[in-house]
Amino acid sequence: MVLGAALPAGTDWRILATDISTLALQKAQRGNYTASQVEAVPLRYRRSAFSVRTGPQGEIMRIDDDLKHMILFRRLNLGRTPYPVRGVFDLVLCRNVMIYLDPQQRADAVAEFHRLLQPGGHLIVGEAENLLGVAGRFERRQPAVYRKV
Ligand SMILES: C[S@@+](CC[C@H](N)C(=O)[O-])C[C@H]1O[C@@H](n2cnc3c(N)ncnc32)[C@H](O)[C@@H]1O
Repeated sequence: MVLGAALPAGTDWRILATDISTLALQKAQRGNYTASQVEAVPLRYRRSAFSVRTGPQGEIMRIDDDLKHMILFRRLNLGRTPYPVRGVFDLVLCRNVMIYLDPQQRADAVAEFHRLLQPGGHLIVGEAENLLGVAGRFERRQPAVYRKV
């Protein structure tokens, strides 16, 4: 939603969305949310990117297909490098996942993000996380935000 609004019309962008859990991926792929789950989403996005349906459990907010088609969902174990992923990325968001990795896997994952990012690309981790001891060739721009140098 944010990229669609921020980038000039016609910009070619895609998101690769990964998780180790096929259940989590299936859920994400369905793109159905309850009203309370999308409460924190700014109203302009709620209005422009969702349609409302009524299901057995009440109202369901369904993310629009146009937006869903920009996202490729793939199962990926971040603990196993190298990742079977092609392409150069501008941004990696890895929030609240590194806690599941052991110290070596964390270091390998951060090195792998570095390899996959283009120079100047950004890695954003969870608010309570940092790359202490594994930052390598990332520079810290602000809490949880790192830039490939
Ligand atoms: C706490 S959730 C965070 C979800 C999301 N990133 C967020 O910030 O809301 C952790 C997710 O990490 C996934 N996960 C755990 N170990 C993983 C691994 N080795 N590789 C990839 N994903 C993993 C879990 O399946 C779960 O969906």
